[in-house]
Parts: sequence; C-alpha cells; structure tokens
Amino acid sequence: MSNSAVGIIGVGNVGVAAAYALFQRQIAGRLVLLDTDTRRAEGEAMDLMHGQALVGRVSVQAGDYADLAGCRVVVICAGVNQKPGENRLDLLNRNAEVFREIAGRLDRHAPEAVLVVATNPVDILTTVMQRLSSRPASRVIGTGTMLDTSRFRALLGEHYGVNPRSVHAYILGEHGDSEVPLWSSATIGGRRIVDQEVNGRRFDETALQALFERVRGAAYDIIDRKGYTNTAIGLVIAYLVRVILEDQKSVLPVSVDPAGVYGISDLCLSVPCVVGRDGVETPVPPQLSETEARGLSASAEVLRTSLAGMTI
Ligand code: LAC
Repeated sequence: MSNSAVGIIGVGNVGVAAAYALFQRQIAGRLVLLDTDTRRAEGEAMDLMHGQALVGRVSVQAGDYADLAGCRVVVICAGVNQKPGENRLDLLNRNAEVFREIAGRLDRHAPEAVLVVATNPVDILTTVMQRLSSRPASRVIGTGTMLDTSRFRALLGEHYGVNPRSVHAYILGEHGDSEVPLWSSATIGGRRIVDQEVNGRRFDETALQALFERVRGAAYDIIDRKGYTNTAIGLVIAYLVRVILEDQKSVLPVSVDPAGVYGISDLCLSVPCVVGRDGVETPVPPQLSETEARGLSASAEVLRTSLAGMTI
C-alpha cells in the first residue's frame, strides 16, 4: 500500500481508467482528480472512494492545482481525443492550447512532480510540455509506444501460444501511424523469432506483417467500435506511475527526447529508457536493422514536421 500522492488532470475516459487502475492496485495512497468539469471530478472521486472497503484505504479527492502540492507524479490526460476518422496528429492545436495553460500552473503548484503525458498526440505534447515546463526534461515522460508495445506483445503471445509477458519485442518511434516494429530484436525465451522456431512456429512474414498492422491500427479499430480507447492506456499509465513511485529502474519504451540517440534530438518519440523515481534516467537503445533505422528516422520526420508548424 503506497502513501504517495498522484494527481490526474483530465478525468475523461482515459483519466478515469488510469484513476481506477491506480486505485484498484493501491499504487497511490492519495489520488487528486482535476477536471474543468469539477462536478465530474467530484463524482468520479466519490465513486472510487466507495470502493475502499473492497480494495483498501486510498484517499481520492476532486481538487484544483493547489491540491497537487506534494504529488510525486501528475498524469496529464486533459484534452480532446480522437473521433472516428481522425488521427492523433489532428488533435494537435486544440490540445497544445490546453497544455500551455496546464504547464504554468503545474510549475507553480507541483514543481517537483514527474509529469506523465498521455494526451494525444502524445509525442508532440510531451515535447511541448518539456519546452514549457521549468522542470528537467527527464521529469516529463510521454506514455509513447508503451501501449503499442503491449498490444504487440499481446498479439505475438497469442500467435506463438505463450504468455505475452514472455514476449520481448518493442514498437518504437511515434505513437501513431509511423511507429516501427523491432522484429530484429524480438525474442521469446531468448530465441529470435525472425530466424528461430518458437513453440513449433516459424517466422511467417505475411502473418506477422498483418499482426503488426492490427497493432498499428488498433486505436482506429477500437474507436470505430466503442468511440474511444481507455482501459489499456489506463493500465499503461498505472504501470508507469508504479515504476516511478517504486523507483523500479524498469526499461520501458517511453516518449522522450533521445538527445542524439539514433541521431534524433529536439523532439520526443519512444525509445527504451530506464525509468525510476526521478523519471527518465538513461536510454537503452536496441540495435536496429537498416529497415528499422530508416523507419525510426521517418517517424522522427513526421513528428518534426508537425512540430515545425507550431508556436510553443
Ligand atoms: C490508443 C490511444 C491511447 O492508441 O492513442 O489507444
């Protein structure tokens, strides 16, 4: 049971899923929920609080920025989300305006907190928040392709008939249409899936390319069916917050400024990094095939083009 305080800005579908995951797993001892719709934040806080007898004591309150004082982590889920037919980059200008307002208030009320950015387009908005906030960039982390990597491992686990936790494979780059699957370093039980049989299955390029397309298109497929995505990203946020609060030093594909790794800098995209109590520590960049390196460079260019059109 933790006694750490965690703030969540934006209690829409994603923010509530994150709050529920943090509450249910008792990752935080105190949750502070902020939303422009204060009554919604109050209702979500009350609804969660009523589960304490079933989960354990976790204080949940609706609050304002002043109530974020002392929070070790603040999760940013505020903004508009994708609608059917939109891609994540379409949300940029609307959500960048939201971030401009949030950054100054967070610097004032929670200057020491590690910020976890989940709002899309997450890579661009993580870059925006890093530039707007006075805290070190290492304390501003985007959820990036943690969700895509989880989807990738889930589908690969299903394909090979193994627990997804036994699949070590990354999706890197943009959390979006230009994301890159790292086939060359993907392993199960220490066996490289590209050239070694695993659990009786050989690498079937056609089937696995289709599997990757399902990963890349997952958000669109889900949004077409339920109108939004929230539960898996909520689990991603809770996992990342726990790694920070417990100083776990886990290597996670989070959205950071690679500062020259893979020749990429001055923008955020996902590369594996050690994450602990003070946020991002060091990158742990896998070796890339030529195809993967080209894909990552192309992903960086997609993001650089979007950033170029912005006034931060
Ligand atoms: C998704 C959203 C979180 O991929 O971008 O589901």
